[in-house]
Amino acid sequence: MAKLKSVFFCQNCGNESSKWLGRCPACGEWNTFVEEVVNKAPASSSIKKGVSIVSANDERTRPVLIENIEVTQEVRFDTKCAEFNRVLGGGLVPGSMVLIGGEPGIGKSTLVLQVVLNIEGKKTLYVSGEESLNQLKMRAERLGSYANKQCYFVSDNSLERIFTHIKNVQPELLIIDSIQTIETELVESAAGSVSQVRECAAQILRYAKESNTPVLMIGHITKDGTIAGPKILEHIVDTVIQFEGDQHYMYRILRAIKNRFGSTSEIGIFEMQHSGLREVSNPSEMLMSHNNLGLSGTAIGAMIEGIRPLLIEVQALVSTAAYGTPQRSATGFDARRLNMLLAVLEKRVGFKLSQKDVFLNIAGGLKVSDPALDLAVISAILSSNMDIAIDPSVCLAGEIGLTGEIRPINRIEQRISEAEKLGFKKIVIPRFKNMDVSGRQIQVLTAEKVEDAFKILFA
Ligand code: TYD
Ligand code: MG
Repeated sequence: MAKLKSVFFCQNCGNESSKWLGRCPACGEWNTFVEEVVNKAPASSSIKKGVSIVSANDERTRPVLIENIEVTQEVRFDTKCAEFNRVLGGGLVPGSMVLIGGEPGIGKSTLVLQVVLNIEGKKTLYVSGEESLNQLKMRAERLGSYANKQCYFVSDNSLERIFTHIKNVQPELLIIDSIQTIETELVESAAGSVSQVRECAAQILRYAKESNTPVLMIGHITKDGTIAGPKILEHIVDTVIQFEGDQHYMYRILRAIKNRFGSTSEIGIFEMQHSGLREVSNPSEMLMSHNNLGLSGTAIGAMIEGIRPLLIEVQALVSTAAYGTPQRSATGFDARRLNMLLAVLEKRVGFKLSQKDVFLNIAGGLKVSDPALDLAVISAILSSNMDIAIDPSVCLAGEIGLTGEIRPINRIEQRISEAEKLGFKKIVIPRFKNMDVSGRQIQVLTAEKVEDAFKILFA
Protein backbone atom coordinates (compact mmCIF):
# COMPACT_ATOMS: atom_id res chain seq x y z
CA MET A 1 0.00 0.00 0.00
CA ALA A 2 1.43 3.33 -1.00
CA LYS A 3 2.17 5.80 1.76
CA LEU A 4 -0.58 8.29 2.40
CA LYS A 5 0.06 11.95 2.77
CA SER A 6 -1.98 15.03 3.13
CA VAL A 7 -1.53 17.84 0.66
CA PHE A 8 -3.31 21.06 -0.10
CA PHE A 9 -4.78 22.00 -3.44
CA CYS A 10 -5.84 25.36 -4.77
CA GLN A 11 -9.46 24.95 -5.87
CA ASN A 12 -9.01 27.62 -8.46
CA CYS A 13 -5.99 26.44 -10.42
CA GLY A 14 -5.18 23.04 -8.94
CA ASN A 15 -1.79 24.16 -7.59
CA GLU A 16 -0.41 21.72 -5.02
CA SER A 17 1.29 22.64 -1.77
CA SER A 18 2.50 20.66 1.21
CA LYS A 19 1.11 23.20 3.64
CA TRP A 20 -1.89 25.45 3.82
CA LEU A 21 -1.44 28.83 2.20
CA GLY A 22 -3.68 31.86 2.49
CA ARG A 23 -2.96 32.95 -1.03
CA CYS A 24 -2.17 30.75 -3.98
CA PRO A 25 1.27 31.64 -5.36
CA ALA A 26 0.26 30.40 -8.81
CA CYS A 27 -3.01 32.15 -9.48
CA GLY A 28 -3.05 34.78 -6.73
CA GLU A 29 -6.49 33.83 -5.39
CA TRP A 30 -7.12 34.06 -1.66
CA ASN A 31 -8.42 31.32 0.59
CA THR A 32 -8.69 28.65 -2.07
CA PHE A 33 -6.58 25.88 -0.50
CA VAL A 34 -8.29 22.71 0.68
CA GLU A 35 -6.69 19.75 2.38
CA GLU A 36 -6.82 16.34 0.78
CA VAL A 37 -5.38 12.95 1.54
CA VAL A 38 -3.75 11.54 -1.55
CA ASN A 39 -1.81 8.51 -2.55
CA LYS A 40 1.91 9.19 -2.39
CA ALA A 41 2.49 9.34 -6.11
CA PRO A 42 -0.78 9.61 -7.98
CA ALA A 43 0.71 10.97 -11.16
CA SER A 44 3.29 8.29 -11.81
CA SER A 45 1.11 5.40 -10.66
CA SER A 46 -1.73 6.52 -12.85
CA ILE A 47 0.54 6.42 -15.83
CA LYS A 48 1.64 2.90 -15.00
CA LYS A 49 -1.73 1.54 -13.93
CA GLY A 50 -3.95 3.77 -16.05
CA VAL A 51 -5.95 2.30 -18.84
CA SER A 52 -3.83 3.00 -21.82
CA ILE A 53 -5.53 1.64 -24.89
CA VAL A 54 -2.63 2.50 -27.17
CA SER A 55 0.76 1.08 -26.33
CA ALA A 56 3.80 3.33 -26.10
CA ASN A 57 5.37 2.35 -29.42
CA ASP A 58 2.16 2.99 -31.34
CA GLU A 59 2.42 5.09 -34.52
CA ARG A 60 0.31 7.87 -33.12
CA THR A 61 2.57 8.61 -30.19
CA ARG A 62 5.68 9.37 -32.26
CA PRO A 63 6.57 13.02 -33.01
CA VAL A 64 5.82 13.96 -36.62
CA LEU A 65 6.93 16.88 -38.78
CA ILE A 66 4.14 19.31 -39.49
CA GLU A 67 4.24 18.74 -43.26
CA ASN A 68 3.94 14.99 -42.71
CA ILE A 69 0.79 15.23 -40.65
CA GLU A 70 -2.02 13.77 -42.66
CA VAL A 71 -5.23 15.67 -42.39
CA THR A 72 -8.16 13.35 -42.25
CA GLN A 73 -11.36 15.16 -43.09
CA GLU A 74 -12.92 15.70 -39.71
CA VAL A 75 -16.41 14.31 -39.74
CA ARG A 76 -18.53 15.83 -37.08
CA PHE A 77 -20.98 13.74 -35.18
CA ASP A 78 -24.49 15.04 -35.75
CA THR A 79 -26.31 15.15 -32.42
CA LYS A 80 -29.70 15.54 -34.16
CA CYS A 81 -30.38 18.54 -31.97
CA ALA A 82 -29.94 21.76 -33.97
CA GLU A 83 -29.41 24.06 -31.00
CA PHE A 84 -26.88 21.73 -29.40
CA ASN A 85 -25.05 21.29 -32.72
CA ARG A 86 -24.88 25.04 -33.14
CA VAL A 87 -23.32 25.59 -29.72
CA LEU A 88 -20.80 22.83 -30.42
CA GLY A 89 -19.84 24.55 -33.66
CA GLY A 90 -21.59 22.12 -35.99
CA GLY A 91 -21.64 18.83 -34.13
CA LEU A 92 -19.39 16.75 -31.90
CA VAL A 93 -15.79 16.37 -33.00
CA PRO A 94 -14.45 12.80 -32.68
CA GLY A 95 -12.16 12.43 -29.69
CA SER A 96 -13.30 15.67 -28.14
CA MET A 97 -14.27 16.11 -24.54
CA VAL A 98 -17.21 18.39 -23.83
CA LEU A 99 -17.95 19.59 -20.33
CA ILE A 100 -21.52 20.68 -19.61
CA GLY A 101 -21.94 22.77 -16.49
CA GLY A 102 -24.99 24.21 -14.84
CA GLU A 103 -26.90 24.63 -11.60
CA PRO A 104 -28.58 21.64 -10.01
CA GLY A 105 -31.93 20.86 -11.58
CA ILE A 106 -31.41 23.09 -14.59
CA GLY A 107 -31.75 20.09 -16.89
CA LYS A 108 -28.22 18.92 -17.75
CA SER A 109 -29.06 15.23 -17.41
CA THR A 110 -32.30 15.72 -19.31
CA LEU A 111 -30.51 17.47 -22.17
CA VAL A 112 -27.82 14.85 -22.49
CA LEU A 113 -30.24 11.94 -22.18
CA GLN A 114 -32.50 13.46 -24.79
CA VAL A 115 -29.59 13.97 -27.18
CA VAL A 116 -28.32 10.42 -26.62
CA LEU A 117 -31.72 8.85 -27.18
CA ASN A 118 -32.22 10.71 -30.44
CA ILE A 119 -28.90 9.89 -32.07
CA GLU A 120 -29.69 7.08 -34.44
CA GLY A 121 -27.51 4.04 -34.87
CA LYS A 122 -24.63 5.09 -32.64
CA LYS A 123 -23.59 2.88 -29.81
CA THR A 124 -23.51 5.00 -26.69
CA LEU A 125 -22.63 4.34 -23.08
CA TYR A 126 -24.29 6.54 -20.47
CA VAL A 127 -22.54 6.32 -17.12
CA SER A 128 -24.53 7.82 -14.28
CA GLY A 129 -22.99 8.26 -10.89
CA GLU A 130 -26.06 10.07 -9.62
CA GLU A 131 -29.09 8.09 -10.68
CA SER A 132 -30.06 4.44 -10.61
CA LEU A 133 -31.02 2.60 -13.77
CA ASN A 134 -34.61 2.72 -12.61
CA GLN A 135 -34.55 6.51 -12.38
CA LEU A 136 -32.89 6.77 -15.76
CA LYS A 137 -35.52 4.57 -17.34
CA MET A 138 -38.30 6.65 -15.77
CA ARG A 139 -36.75 9.80 -17.15
CA ALA A 140 -36.36 8.23 -20.59
CA GLU A 141 -40.03 7.24 -20.57
CA ARG A 142 -40.96 10.76 -19.68
CA LEU A 143 -39.08 11.99 -22.72
CA GLY A 144 -41.20 9.81 -25.01
CA SER A 145 -40.14 7.70 -27.95
CA TYR A 146 -36.49 7.24 -28.77
CA ALA A 147 -34.64 6.50 -31.97
CA ASN A 148 -31.41 5.11 -30.56
CA LYS A 149 -31.75 1.42 -29.83
CA GLN A 150 -28.07 0.99 -29.01
CA CYS A 151 -27.91 2.97 -25.86
CA TYR A 152 -26.29 1.26 -22.89
CA PHE A 153 -26.74 2.54 -19.36
CA VAL A 154 -24.74 1.86 -16.25
CA SER A 155 -24.93 3.31 -12.79
CA ASP A 156 -21.41 3.31 -11.41
CA ASN A 157 -18.93 5.51 -9.56
CA SER A 158 -15.66 3.70 -9.96
CA LEU A 159 -13.46 4.89 -12.78
CA GLU A 160 -11.73 1.51 -12.99
CA ARG A 161 -15.05 -0.29 -13.43
CA ILE A 162 -16.18 2.33 -15.95
CA PHE A 163 -13.16 1.53 -18.09
CA THR A 164 -14.11 -2.16 -17.93
CA HIS A 165 -17.63 -1.25 -19.11
CA ILE A 166 -16.10 0.78 -21.93
CA LYS A 167 -13.99 -2.18 -22.98
CA ASN A 168 -17.05 -4.44 -23.03
CA VAL A 169 -19.42 -2.06 -24.79
CA GLN A 170 -16.95 -0.30 -27.14
CA PRO A 171 -19.16 2.80 -27.37
CA GLU A 172 -19.04 5.43 -30.11
CA LEU A 173 -20.10 8.09 -27.64
CA LEU A 174 -19.50 8.19 -23.89
CA ILE A 175 -21.52 10.15 -21.33
CA ILE A 176 -20.30 10.78 -17.80
CA ASP A 177 -22.95 12.16 -15.43
CA SER A 178 -21.26 13.68 -13.48
CA ILE A 179 -17.49 13.98 -13.14
CA GLN A 180 -17.86 14.97 -9.48
CA THR A 181 -19.40 11.59 -8.61
CA ILE A 182 -16.69 9.46 -10.22
CA GLU A 183 -13.73 8.26 -8.19
CA THR A 184 -10.54 6.41 -8.89
CA GLU A 185 -8.68 4.08 -6.52
CA LEU A 186 -5.46 5.92 -7.28
CA VAL A 187 -6.51 8.89 -5.20
CA GLU A 188 -7.54 8.46 -1.59
CA SER A 189 -9.73 11.50 -1.19
CA ALA A 190 -13.50 11.53 -1.61
CA ALA A 191 -15.31 11.83 -4.94
CA GLY A 192 -15.70 15.42 -6.03
CA SER A 193 -12.46 16.61 -4.42
CA VAL A 194 -9.91 18.51 -6.45
CA SER A 195 -7.50 15.63 -6.87
CA GLN A 196 -10.24 13.09 -7.71
CA VAL A 197 -11.81 15.33 -10.33
CA ARG A 198 -8.43 16.13 -11.82
CA GLU A 199 -7.26 12.54 -11.99
CA CYS A 200 -10.55 11.12 -13.30
CA ALA A 201 -10.90 13.83 -15.93
CA ALA A 202 -7.32 13.31 -17.07
CA GLN A 203 -7.85 9.57 -17.49
CA ILE A 204 -11.12 10.02 -19.36
CA LEU A 205 -9.46 12.61 -21.56
CA ARG A 206 -6.68 10.19 -22.37
CA TYR A 207 -9.27 7.58 -23.30
CA ALA A 208 -11.11 10.06 -25.55
CA LYS A 209 -7.96 11.07 -27.41
CA GLU A 210 -6.61 7.57 -27.80
CA SER A 211 -9.83 5.95 -28.95
CA ASN A 212 -11.16 8.99 -30.83
CA THR A 213 -14.47 8.68 -29.00
CA PRO A 214 -16.31 11.89 -28.14
CA VAL A 215 -17.14 12.29 -24.45
CA LEU A 216 -19.91 14.40 -22.96
CA MET A 217 -19.16 15.08 -19.33
CA ILE A 218 -21.52 16.78 -16.90
CA GLY A 219 -20.02 18.97 -14.20
CA HIS A 220 -21.51 20.64 -11.15
CA ILE A 221 -21.10 24.33 -10.60
CA THR A 222 -20.37 26.17 -7.39
CA LYS A 223 -22.27 29.00 -5.74
CA ASP A 224 -20.45 31.66 -7.73
CA GLY A 225 -21.27 29.95 -11.01
CA THR A 226 -17.95 28.38 -11.91
CA ILE A 227 -17.55 24.68 -12.58
CA ALA A 228 -16.78 22.87 -9.34
CA GLY A 229 -13.33 21.42 -9.02
CA PRO A 230 -10.08 22.76 -10.26
CA LYS A 231 -9.98 25.36 -12.98
CA ILE A 232 -7.69 22.99 -14.86
CA LEU A 233 -10.75 20.89 -15.60
CA GLU A 234 -11.87 23.70 -17.87
CA HIS A 235 -8.38 23.94 -19.33
CA ILE A 236 -8.03 20.30 -20.28
CA VAL A 237 -11.38 19.75 -21.95
CA ASP A 238 -11.97 20.92 -25.52
CA THR A 239 -15.32 22.54 -25.01
CA VAL A 240 -17.02 24.01 -21.96
CA ILE A 241 -20.74 24.55 -22.23
CA GLN A 242 -22.85 26.27 -19.65
CA PHE A 243 -26.53 25.47 -19.30
CA GLU A 244 -28.29 28.34 -17.62
CA GLY A 245 -31.76 29.55 -17.01
CA ASP A 246 -34.01 31.82 -15.09
CA GLN A 247 -35.81 30.48 -12.06
CA HIS A 248 -38.96 32.25 -13.09
CA TYR A 249 -39.09 31.21 -16.71
CA MET A 250 -38.95 27.81 -18.29
CA TYR A 251 -36.33 28.94 -20.79
CA ARG A 252 -32.84 27.53 -20.76
CA ILE A 253 -29.85 28.89 -22.57
CA LEU A 254 -26.95 26.75 -23.68
CA ARG A 255 -23.78 28.72 -24.16
CA ALA A 256 -20.25 27.76 -25.11
CA ILE A 257 -17.72 29.36 -22.76
CA LYS A 258 -14.78 27.75 -24.45
CA ASN A 259 -14.70 25.86 -27.73
CA ARG A 260 -11.62 24.58 -29.49
CA PHE A 261 -13.71 23.60 -32.50
CA GLY A 262 -16.09 26.49 -32.94
CA SER A 263 -17.04 29.95 -31.88
CA THR A 264 -18.14 30.87 -28.39
CA SER A 265 -20.66 33.43 -29.51
CA GLU A 266 -23.38 30.94 -30.37
CA ILE A 267 -26.21 30.17 -28.01
CA GLY A 268 -28.86 27.49 -28.02
CA ILE A 269 -32.27 28.13 -26.53
CA PHE A 270 -34.55 25.50 -25.05
CA GLU A 271 -37.78 25.40 -23.17
CA MET A 272 -38.27 22.91 -20.34
CA GLN A 273 -41.59 21.18 -20.74
CA HIS A 274 -43.12 18.29 -18.84
CA SER A 275 -41.91 15.93 -21.54
CA GLY A 276 -38.37 17.21 -21.83
CA LEU A 277 -36.59 20.09 -23.50
CA ARG A 278 -38.01 21.68 -26.61
CA GLU A 279 -35.71 23.58 -28.96
CA VAL A 280 -36.76 27.20 -29.34
CA SER A 281 -36.00 28.06 -32.93
CA ASN A 282 -37.70 31.44 -32.86
CA PRO A 283 -36.22 33.27 -29.87
CA SER A 284 -38.31 36.39 -30.18
CA GLU A 285 -41.27 34.41 -28.82
CA MET A 286 -39.27 34.26 -25.62
CA LEU A 287 -38.80 38.03 -25.57
CA MET A 288 -42.45 38.74 -26.19
CA SER A 289 -43.50 36.90 -23.08
CA HIS A 290 -41.85 39.28 -20.67
CA ASN A 291 -41.63 42.54 -22.50
CA ASN A 292 -43.52 45.45 -21.02
CA LEU A 293 -44.83 46.79 -24.27
CA GLY A 294 -45.38 50.49 -24.26
CA LEU A 295 -43.96 51.34 -20.84
CA SER A 296 -41.51 54.19 -20.55
CA GLY A 297 -38.25 53.94 -18.64
CA THR A 298 -36.89 50.67 -19.98
CA ALA A 299 -34.15 50.07 -22.50
CA ILE A 300 -32.36 46.92 -23.63
CA GLY A 301 -28.58 46.99 -23.59
CA ALA A 302 -26.21 44.54 -25.26
CA MET A 303 -23.50 43.81 -22.75
CA ILE A 304 -20.65 41.35 -22.42
CA GLU A 305 -20.41 39.32 -19.26
CA GLY A 306 -16.97 37.72 -19.11
CA ILE A 307 -16.70 36.61 -22.70
CA ARG A 308 -20.40 36.07 -23.13
CA PRO A 309 -22.78 38.52 -24.78
CA LEU A 310 -25.98 39.12 -22.89
CA LEU A 311 -28.96 41.33 -23.52
CA ILE A 312 -30.23 43.00 -20.44
CA GLU A 313 -33.10 45.24 -19.51
CA VAL A 314 -32.26 48.52 -17.79
CA GLN A 315 -35.07 50.24 -15.90
CA ALA A 316 -35.08 53.84 -14.77
CA LEU A 317 -37.53 55.98 -12.89
CA VAL A 318 -37.18 59.75 -12.92
CA SER A 319 -39.53 61.81 -10.77
CA THR A 320 -39.56 65.28 -9.26
CA ALA A 321 -37.68 65.33 -5.97
CA ALA A 322 -40.23 65.56 -3.16
CA TYR A 323 -37.71 66.46 -0.49
CA GLY A 324 -34.87 68.96 -0.76
CA THR A 325 -31.92 66.92 -2.01
CA PRO A 326 -32.70 64.71 -5.02
CA GLN A 327 -32.04 61.03 -4.55
CA ARG A 328 -29.93 58.95 -6.86
CA SER A 329 -29.98 55.26 -6.42
CA ALA A 330 -28.65 52.46 -8.57
CA THR A 331 -29.11 48.71 -8.16
CA GLY A 332 -26.66 46.57 -10.06
CA PHE A 333 -24.91 49.59 -11.57
CA ASP A 334 -22.10 51.78 -10.26
CA ALA A 335 -23.66 54.82 -8.52
CA ARG A 336 -20.70 57.05 -9.39
CA ARG A 337 -21.02 56.18 -13.03
CA LEU A 338 -24.73 56.99 -12.83
CA ASN A 339 -23.89 60.44 -11.43
CA MET A 340 -21.40 60.99 -14.22
CA LEU A 341 -23.95 60.04 -16.86
CA LEU A 342 -26.51 62.38 -15.29
CA ALA A 343 -23.95 65.20 -15.37
CA VAL A 344 -23.29 64.51 -19.06
CA LEU A 345 -27.01 64.60 -19.78
CA GLU A 346 -27.37 67.88 -17.90
CA LYS A 347 -24.35 69.65 -19.32
CA ARG A 348 -24.01 68.26 -22.84
CA VAL A 349 -27.54 67.39 -23.83
CA GLY A 350 -29.33 70.06 -21.85
CA PHE A 351 -31.78 68.02 -19.80
CA LYS A 352 -32.60 69.46 -16.39
CA LEU A 353 -32.27 66.55 -14.03
CA SER A 354 -30.77 68.27 -11.00
CA GLN A 355 -34.12 68.56 -9.25
CA LYS A 356 -35.19 65.01 -10.03
CA ASP A 357 -34.93 61.75 -8.17
CA VAL A 358 -33.33 59.09 -10.36
CA PHE A 359 -33.64 55.39 -9.64
CA LEU A 360 -31.89 52.84 -11.77
CA ASN A 361 -32.32 49.11 -11.75
CA ILE A 362 -30.65 46.37 -13.75
CA ALA A 363 -33.16 43.58 -14.32
CA GLY A 364 -32.50 40.07 -13.10
CA GLY A 365 -30.46 41.13 -10.05
CA LEU A 366 -27.28 41.27 -12.11
CA LYS A 367 -24.36 43.54 -11.31
CA VAL A 368 -22.86 45.01 -14.44
CA SER A 369 -19.62 46.81 -15.04
CA ASP A 370 -19.52 46.82 -18.84
CA PRO A 371 -19.32 50.50 -19.91
CA ALA A 372 -21.18 49.61 -23.11
CA LEU A 373 -24.34 49.64 -21.04
CA ASP A 374 -24.07 53.45 -20.64
CA LEU A 375 -26.17 54.12 -23.71
CA ALA A 376 -28.99 51.90 -22.48
CA VAL A 377 -28.81 53.58 -19.06
CA ILE A 378 -29.16 57.14 -20.32
CA SER A 379 -31.83 56.10 -22.82
CA ALA A 380 -33.88 54.52 -20.04
CA ILE A 381 -33.45 57.66 -17.92
CA LEU A 382 -34.59 59.95 -20.71
CA SER A 383 -37.42 57.63 -21.66
CA SER A 384 -38.71 57.86 -18.10
CA ASN A 385 -38.08 61.60 -17.88
CA MET A 386 -40.05 62.34 -21.04
CA ASP A 387 -42.48 59.47 -20.46
CA ILE A 388 -41.98 58.14 -23.97
CA ALA A 389 -41.48 54.42 -24.41
CA ILE A 390 -38.57 53.04 -26.41
CA ASP A 391 -39.49 50.59 -29.18
CA PRO A 392 -38.97 47.16 -27.56
CA SER A 393 -37.35 45.78 -30.70
CA VAL A 394 -34.42 48.19 -30.39
CA CYS A 395 -31.32 47.39 -28.43
CA LEU A 396 -28.39 49.62 -27.52
CA ALA A 397 -24.67 49.38 -26.93
CA GLY A 398 -22.19 52.20 -26.44
CA GLU A 399 -19.95 53.85 -23.90
CA ILE A 400 -20.58 57.52 -23.13
CA GLY A 401 -17.64 59.89 -22.86
CA LEU A 402 -17.58 63.06 -20.79
CA THR A 403 -18.16 65.24 -23.82
CA GLY A 404 -21.35 63.39 -24.71
CA GLU A 405 -19.79 61.38 -27.50
CA ILE A 406 -20.56 57.70 -27.92
CA ARG A 407 -17.30 55.85 -27.78
CA PRO A 408 -16.35 52.61 -29.52
CA ILE A 409 -16.78 49.38 -27.60
CA ASN A 410 -15.20 45.96 -27.85
CA ARG A 411 -16.74 42.79 -29.28
CA ILE A 412 -19.25 44.75 -31.23
CA GLU A 413 -19.94 41.93 -33.69
CA GLN A 414 -20.72 39.55 -30.88
CA ARG A 415 -23.22 42.01 -29.43
CA ILE A 416 -24.88 42.48 -32.80
CA SER A 417 -25.05 38.72 -33.33
CA GLU A 418 -26.62 38.21 -29.91
CA ALA A 419 -29.23 40.90 -30.55
CA GLU A 420 -29.91 39.39 -33.96
CA LYS A 421 -30.14 35.91 -32.49
CA LEU A 422 -32.63 37.10 -29.90
CA GLY A 423 -34.85 38.62 -32.55
CA PHE A 424 -34.17 42.36 -32.21
CA LYS A 425 -34.87 44.46 -35.28
CA LYS A 426 -32.49 47.36 -34.66
CA ILE A 427 -29.33 47.98 -32.71
CA VAL A 428 -27.81 51.39 -32.02
CA ILE A 429 -24.04 51.33 -31.75
CA PRO A 430 -21.11 53.76 -31.98
CA ARG A 431 -19.49 54.57 -35.32
CA PHE A 432 -17.39 51.61 -36.45
CA LYS A 433 -14.76 50.80 -39.05
CA ASN A 434 -13.95 47.63 -40.97
CA MET A 435 -17.13 45.76 -40.30
CA ASP A 436 -19.56 44.33 -42.80
CA VAL A 437 -23.15 44.36 -41.62
CA SER A 438 -24.81 44.00 -45.00
CA GLY A 439 -25.91 40.37 -44.64
CA ARG A 440 -27.52 40.84 -41.26
CA GLN A 441 -31.16 40.45 -40.35
CA ILE A 442 -30.86 43.25 -37.85
CA GLN A 443 -30.66 46.90 -38.84
CA VAL A 444 -27.44 48.41 -37.52
CA LEU A 445 -27.70 52.13 -36.75
CA THR A 446 -24.78 54.26 -35.68
CA ALA A 447 -24.74 57.28 -33.43
CA GLU A 448 -21.77 59.52 -32.81
CA LYS A 449 -23.23 61.64 -30.06
CA VAL A 450 -25.90 61.15 -27.46
CA GLU A 451 -28.20 63.47 -29.44
CA ASP A 452 -27.93 61.21 -32.50
CA ALA A 453 -29.06 58.23 -30.46
CA PHE A 454 -32.00 60.18 -29.08
CA LYS A 455 -33.06 61.19 -32.54
CA ILE A 456 -33.17 57.51 -33.49
CA LEU A 457 -35.03 56.52 -30.35
CA PHE A 458 -37.49 59.31 -29.80
CA ALA A 459 -37.91 61.01 -33.18
P1 TYD B 1 -32.17 17.39 -14.46
O1 TYD B 1 -31.87 17.05 -15.86
O2 TYD B 1 -32.29 16.28 -13.48
O3 TYD B 1 -31.18 18.47 -13.91
P2 TYD B 1 -29.63 18.39 -13.61
O4 TYD B 1 -29.11 17.13 -14.19
O5 TYD B 1 -29.09 19.62 -14.28
O6 TYD B 1 -29.48 18.48 -12.14
O7 TYD B 1 -33.51 18.27 -14.53
C1 TYD B 1 -34.46 18.09 -13.63
C2 TYD B 1 -35.51 19.15 -13.69
O8 TYD B 1 -36.15 19.23 -14.93
C3 TYD B 1 -36.51 18.78 -12.68
O9 TYD B 1 -36.71 19.87 -11.83
C4 TYD B 1 -37.71 18.40 -13.44
C5 TYD B 1 -37.55 19.03 -14.75
N1 TYD B 1 -38.03 18.21 -15.86
C6 TYD B 1 -39.12 18.64 -16.60
O10 TYD B 1 -39.70 19.69 -16.33
N2 TYD B 1 -39.55 17.88 -17.67
C7 TYD B 1 -38.94 16.71 -18.00
O11 TYD B 1 -39.35 16.05 -18.96
C8 TYD B 1 -37.83 16.28 -17.23
C9 TYD B 1 -37.13 14.98 -17.55
C10 TYD B 1 -37.40 17.05 -16.17
MG1 MG C 1 -28.35 15.46 -13.21
